[in-house]
Order: sequence, then structure tokens, then C-alpha cells
Amino acid sequence: MGSWKLLFCFLVFEMFWCWGEGLGVNWGTMAIRQLPPRTVVQMLQDNGIKKVKLFDADFNTMSALAGTDIEVMVAIPNDMLATMNDYDAAKQWVKKNVTRYNWEGGVKIKYVAVGNEPFLSSYNGSFLNTTFPALQNIQNALNEAGVGNTIKATVPLNADVYNSPVNNAVPSAGQFRADISELMTQIVQFLNQNGAPFTVNIYPFLSLYANEHFPIDFAFFDGGSTPVTDNQIQYTNVFDANFDTLVSALKAVGLGNLPIIVGEVGWPTDGDINAKVSYAERFYNGLLKRLAANQGTPLRPNTNIEVYLFSLIDEDAKSIAPGAFERHWGIFSYDGQPKFPMDLSGQGQNKFLIAAKNVKYLPQRWCVFNPNAKDLSKLGDNIDYACTFSDCTSLGYGSTCGNLDAQGNASYAFNMYFQVQGQNDMSCNFQGLAMVTTQNYSQGTCKFIVQLASSPSLQKPSFIILAFVFLAFLLFQLEQL
Ligand SMILES: *[C@@H]1O[C@H](CO)[C@@H](O)[C@H](O)[C@H]1NC(C)=O
Ligand SMILES: *[C@@H]1O[C@H](CO)[C@@H](O)[C@H](O)[C@H]1NC(C)=O
Ligand SMILES: *[C@@H]1O[C@H](CO)[C@@H](O)[C@H](O)[C@H]1NC(C)=O
Ligand SMILES: *[C@@H]1O[C@H](CO)[C@@H](O)[C@H](O)[C@H]1NC(C)=O
Ligand SMILES: *[C@@H]1O[C@H](CO)[C@@H](O)[C@H](O)[C@H]1NC(C)=O
Repeated sequence: MGSWKLLFCFLVFEMFWCWGEGLGVNWGTMAIRQLPPRTVVQMLQDNGIKKVKLFDADFNTMSALAGTDIEVMVAIPNDMLATMNDYDAAKQWVKKNVTRYNWEGGVKIKYVAVGNEPFLSSYNGSFLNTTFPALQNIQNALNEAGVGNTIKATVPLNADVYNSPVNNAVPSAGQFRADISELMTQIVQFLNQNGAPFTVNIYPFLSLYANEHFPIDFAFFDGGSTPVTDNQIQYTNVFDANFDTLVSALKAVGLGNLPIIVGEVGWPTDGDINAKVSYAERFYNGLLKRLAANQGTPLRPNTNIEVYLFSLIDEDAKSIAPGAFERHWGIFSYDGQPKFPMDLSGQGQNKFLIAAKNVKYLPQRWCVFNPNAKDLSKLGDNIDYACTFSDCTSLGYGSTCGNLDAQGNASYAFNMYFQVQGQNDMSCNFQGLAMVTTQNYSQGTCKFIVQLASSPSLQKPSFIILAFVFLAFLLFQLEQL
């Protein structure tokens, strides 16, 4: 961005408007009960967020985004990559999920994410053969449909596709992981040919989580840690070091100038000793100030990095295989309430984001442990049952409800189950161990929530079955007449 434009921004619109050009959020929908898509889109607009990254191309989400000026990255989930190796299927996908929205007043699609971190080591190579052909087919289908100039296919990759600086290596030594270096070279060459960016997810929190000796201040941006010196460069935070490791890996294959998007970056607020609101606030405060300053990184100075925060809203149905923190990445809680002060303009003002409007909640009722219960032998089993079908990740060590006693634990678990079941009375029994109350059992940081009134999204098959049952019932009624 030229200095004149910067000055113009300051004078006329404040930095907010200008920075808004680069700032996006990830909108995941793996929650049992969800805010209506229109409510979420209104919340994005109220907060001046102009870019959103999705994990699929859900019709209801896309419909809510239609007619707004929000730029969208739609996505093909990993389990569809193999299908996309068939060019006709890729063309169909593009037709159904891209070009159908490509009209005045439609959806401003800018990118198609092909897969989501498909080369994670934990996937054991499951998507190694199918990702690159899928990427080629999707970009070619976009080109054939005549939208390839403005809509680019990219693959959001975890930073584990290159050797990152945590193992004492310096950023300038960055290279793609040995087992996939040939494949990565082909992918980046293809991105380059098509004018598409490299998309990388960078997680300072995970660096800390994975390594108890990680210097904690290096995860943040306040310069409190001992710098890592690389040639003449001093790195004071892992975000820069990680980003520049990628720049070096790209340079090593002759594409040091390939544009880079940060597809995910953020900090969770619960589910681990380091996943807490104070750290999230500190992390975002530092990150947003840096991004607003357009200072880039040492190897890419003075650039406006396109960044998608991870994530918008907590998702209580995400897999917790990576850790209990997975369900707490939102800058908003499940009901669209901001968790901590956050100034997206990067000016560090101590203010909260604007909450979701007109949120409909269930009644003020909770399900808790019944102190008059006689037989406690089945308590453990019942807690396990409740936690299997609802989210108990706040009960763990170092989490917001980690200090509850045994009865408090039971109450918390019973309530989470009762709430996701829409406060159905049958769901607050637990073999006589539970009871419904109108008293709010929240204490300190531990919140006993009341869930959203919206019904859980009906799965298509069950919806069809319900429709049949209803029809049969109608016919039965008619027979009686
Ligand atoms: C379009 O995207 C949706 C949602 O991600 C997916 O279920 C559907 O299969 C896609 N359509 C085609 C034709 O592939
Ligand atoms: C990968 O392999 C490990 C160990 O063999 C196994 O536990 C895990 O379930 C596998 N993951 C996938 C996604 O196949
Ligand atoms: C990928 O292709 C290689 C070589 O053709 C094959 O050995 C391997 O089993 C394939 N991997 C998967 C996950 O299909
Ligand atoms: C409460 O539940 C958590 C998580 O399951 C467990 O670690 C803790 O020991 C429990 N506390 C008591 C007092 O039972
Ligand atoms: C319950 O209490 C907590 C903390 O005291 C509060 O934040 C929350 O809004 C209350 N819930 C309801 C439904 O009133």
C-alpha cells in the first residue's frame, strides 16, 4: 500500500477501513446448536469484517452471504478430494458451488480451498495422492467456466509441511518436509502459474502446547523473549519466524515471491492451561497491531499480509483428538458474545467487538446434580454418558471449570447434555441423579450455559424420515374420516 494511500486512510477513514482489506475470519460450523447464518453475517458486518473463510460450501451459509460485500473462501473438505480427481466431478462442484453464486447480488467468491491441511502427519498420507490432482482439476474447471482470473484455487496447509524453527533451525534454513518435497514443489509451481497464493496456517499456541520448553514470550508479540538471530535478523516472535521459514522454503524451490495468505491464526480460550482469555487477548492485541502497521516480516518487509483469524465462534462438536482446546478457538462464544476486548483496527483500544443481535435462548433453566439422590454408584457412568453427547472440555485441568468438586462436575456435565438436548425434561434424569433448577449455578470463570433456542440442524435423512412419518400420519387421519 503506497504511503499516500496510507495517509489518505488515516485522514479519511482511519486505519480500520484500510486494515479491513486484509482481515478475515474462519467461520466453522461444527457446533451442535448454531446461530442462524443471517445472524452471523450481520455480526460480521457490524464488526466491519470483510473476508470470511469457510470449510465447505453450505447452501444456507452461502445464501446468507449473498448480496453482501464480504469476500468468501469456499472449501472442498478432505473427504471429497478423491472425488475431485475426476474432472467432470470438479466441473460439477464448480458449477454448483461457485458459478451459481456468480451474479450481481450473489456471493463474492475469491478463493476455493482445496482440502484442509491434507498433508498433516497425523493423516498418515491418506490425501497425498489426491490433493494435487484435485487442485489442478478445480483451477482448470474455474478457468474453463471463465472465472479463473478472479477466483483462485489454493490448498490451506499446516506449517508442518515445512521444517519450522522450533527445532533450533533458523528461518533461513526453511525447506519443505522431505517426504513431500517433490509434491510441494509441483503444487507451488502450479499455484504460481495460475496466480494463486500459498495458504498456510500458523499456530504459536500449538508450538507452546507441543513443547513444554518453548519460551512462552516467543509466542507473543511484545518482544519479551530472547531473540533468535538468523544472519543479521533478530526474530522476537514465532509468527515471524514461522512465516519466514515458509518464505525460505519457497525461495529454495525458486519461488521466493509467491504470495502467501495466512489461512488460520489465533489463540483458544479454554481446554488447556495455556488456552485462556488473558493469553488470547495478549496474542490478538499484539498480532492486530502488527498487521495494522503493515510492517510484514523480516523477509517480506512492508507488506500487508492477508490473514484469516481462527476462529469466529466456538464449535462444541469439533474433534478433540488434537486437544480439549479445539472447541474454544472462537473470538466469540457459542452465542455470539465477544470473549475479551479486541480492536480489529489494531489501535489497541480497550473495547469489545459487537455481539450477535437478537439471539434467541432457551428458558433460564439448568440441569444439575440432585443432592437428595441416594444411590451414587452410577454417577460416573452418567457423567460419561452426558459428556459423550455434549461438550465437557471446560472441566479439565487448568480449564475454566477445572476447580469444581465431584458434585459440581456432575452438575456441569448434566447441564451441558440437557442444554444441547434443547432442555427436554427427559434429558435431565440420569437415573434419578439430576434435577431441573431455575438457579444459575455459574461460579467465577465457570459458566453454566443456557443454549440457543434454534433447533439442532436436521440431518437430511432424518428429515426425510420425519416427512414420511408425517405423511403416513396424515393418511391415517384421512382414513379415519
Ligand atoms: C457443493 O458443496 C456442498 C457443500 O459443501 C456439497 O455437499 C456438494 O456435494 C457440492 N456439490 C457438488 C456438485 O459437488
Ligand atoms: C494414523 O496411524 C496411527 C498409528 O498407526 C493411527 O493411530 C491413526 O488412527 C491413523 N490416522 C488416520 C487418520 O488414519
Ligand atoms: C498413493 O500412491 C502410491 C503409488 O502409486 C501408493 O503406493 C500408495 O498406496 C497410495 N496411497 C494412498 C493413500 O492411496
Ligand atoms: C472433575 O472432572 C474432571 C474432568 O473429567 C476430572 O479431571 C476431575 O478429577 C473431576 N473432579 C472431581 C473432584 O471429581
Ligand atoms: C449466569 O451467571 C453468569 C455469571 O454469574 C452470567 O454470566 C450469565 O449470564 C448467567 N446466565 C443467565 C442465563 O442469566
